[in-house]
Amino acid sequence: MCGIVGAVAQRDVAEILVEGLRRLEYRGYDSAGVAVVDSESNLTRVRRLGKVQELADAVNEQHVAGGTGIAHTRWATHGEPSEANAHPHMSGDIAVVHNGIIENHEELRELLTGRGYVFTSQTDTEVIAHLVEWELRTSASLIEALQKTAKQLEGAYGTVAVDRKDPSRIVVARSGSPIVIGLGVGENFLASDQLALLNVTRRFIYLEEGDIAEITRREVSIFDAEGNAVEREEHESNAEHDAGDKGKYRHFMQKEIFEQPTALISTMEGRLSADSVITNAIGVKAEEILSKVEHVQIIACGTSYNSGMAARYWFESIAGVSCDVEIASEFRYRKFVTRPNSLLVTLSQSGETADTLAALRLAKEKGYMAAMTICNVAGSSLVRESDFAFMTRAGTEIGVASTKAFTTQLAAMLMMVVSIGRLQGRVDQAQETEIVKALHELPTAIEKALAFDKEIEALAPDFADKHHTLFLGRGEYYPIAMEASLKLKEISYIHAEAYAAGELKHGPLALIDADMPVVVVAPNNDLLEKLKSNVEEVRARGGLLYVFADEEAGFEGDENMKIIKMPHVSEIIAPIFYTVPMQLLSYHIALIKGTDVDQPRNLAKAVTVE
Ligand code: AGP
Ligand code: GLU
Repeated sequence: MCGIVGAVAQRDVAEILVEGLRRLEYRGYDSAGVAVVDSESNLTRVRRLGKVQELADAVNEQHVAGGTGIAHTRWATHGEPSEANAHPHMSGDIAVVHNGIIENHEELRELLTGRGYVFTSQTDTEVIAHLVEWELRTSASLIEALQKTAKQLEGAYGTVAVDRKDPSRIVVARSGSPIVIGLGVGENFLASDQLALLNVTRRFIYLEEGDIAEITRREVSIFDAEGNAVEREEHESNAEHDAGDKGKYRHFMQKEIFEQPTALISTMEGRLSADSVITNAIGVKAEEILSKVEHVQIIACGTSYNSGMAARYWFESIAGVSCDVEIASEFRYRKFVTRPNSLLVTLSQSGETADTLAALRLAKEKGYMAAMTICNVAGSSLVRESDFAFMTRAGTEIGVASTKAFTTQLAAMLMMVVSIGRLQGRVDQAQETEIVKALHELPTAIEKALAFDKEIEALAPDFADKHHTLFLGRGEYYPIAMEASLKLKEISYIHAEAYAAGELKHGPLALIDADMPVVVVAPNNDLLEKLKSNVEEVRARGGLLYVFADEEAGFEGDENMKIIKMPHVSEIIAPIFYTVPMQLLSYHIALIKGTDVDQPRNLAKAVTVE
């Protein structure tokens, strides 16, 4: 699921490969490796557990020379993270890297052992290396050997092979895991994500499902799954060279809001098939642990806490396991009772939040069955100290106000919820198919929400001169309202509160007047009628309402009630969808107020102090 980089050039490529891996670091990984071949067919393989920097130091020390090479960052799915399990894997003269999962690896391992191959790792990947080696014995070329190999593989993968005896080429197969070819002048490259290659080229060819390609310094030959030679269109990328660059956007926060469709694609990549969640892809121990969990204890701060609060509804209603969510700074200082078979889940963008980390360390002594983190920064403290990590892969988030980290955490938790439900017999195939289908539609749904940018911008002046705002939601939309109010406070310095709409009459209704805008998140779910009554309570007291409603929800606006009619999306992904207009609203209000949107006063991006 992690990173692949490859190169065929005249110059030494080790540095390009390692730089490519560095650019993929954000995706999360546990080990990394390279194999480089020089023109005399000398192959050097270097692998390291841990950070890309450790691999980089080792590569520098060994002066790895050669113009052809492959590299990989691994996120272990089969076999623990270790140097022996790190890619590239070798068989005779063949070196292979692989992203994804080979589902029939056990039977292939048996077959290959019978043929005399000796396995040196616990990975599913190693079967690919031996299969290519075997097939090459009776093939005219390396690509033919890979074509024959691919026919025997089941699962989702992207894989690259190089033959020490013929350093003029590398071959690559794509099946369920993206591969892009980067075109240079007298040199060519490939990677699992174009980001890895933006420092060497801007010209890319995206392989399609089932494609197998051969890359030499001067040529790229592509064949489809049936073995027919095919042409794939070349694209000029205008993607940014650097995650630290705002590009066409005015602020990082704005850029990160608009990046959510691609961030979500990245979160889901390799972890979903057409109709199911690939639980193994969550982590090595995921299946074993998720099948036994009876209770989930979520610990987080700020925006991450809000996402936990939203996901809690899913854990209980879909997976059927009880779930508690607590602010880390509270949890760490109170005496709590650990429930039987409870899984501790920390949620964090940065992975360095001091309170969350302290809570994790404390909880480790308190008998949880395991500690899992859902995190966006590879190699962070939470990732290192947890038993297993589910990386959100949202890409670097620079704006202090968290946006894409929130929506990707929700997508990650939804995948986890489906896995638990299926493993424990509470989610059947039909329900899994329905949720997975909705997840596949999520990036497009988010695009649709982003298209409301101008309409939302037009509402912002109504809020900019107010001192308070109230956000209302019911069910899982209550945490979405909480997140909306946190965003507004953080970047516009306007006091905001979120209430579960049913709680209004128990006090906050006293606040309603024409100076208190009330924002309502109103999808078309089974609480709609209740929510409508709450809206009427506000209307009757002269409140100013802004209702973000499903187009089918039947709200009619008037001069005190603006209705922003949102397109209907599948109910399960709607909380993620409705987050986006809330983010845009805060952003546009802050713009009018002229605050420092990316670095609001008094706040820091990673809160590494108590
Ligand atoms: C979000 O907009 C905030 N800046 C803040 O609440 C943040 O979510 C919180 O500090 C937790 O950070 P983490 O996700 O990196 O652990
Ligand atoms: N399944 C392979 C392994 O466990 C590849 C994992 C990855 O995509 O990094 O080594």
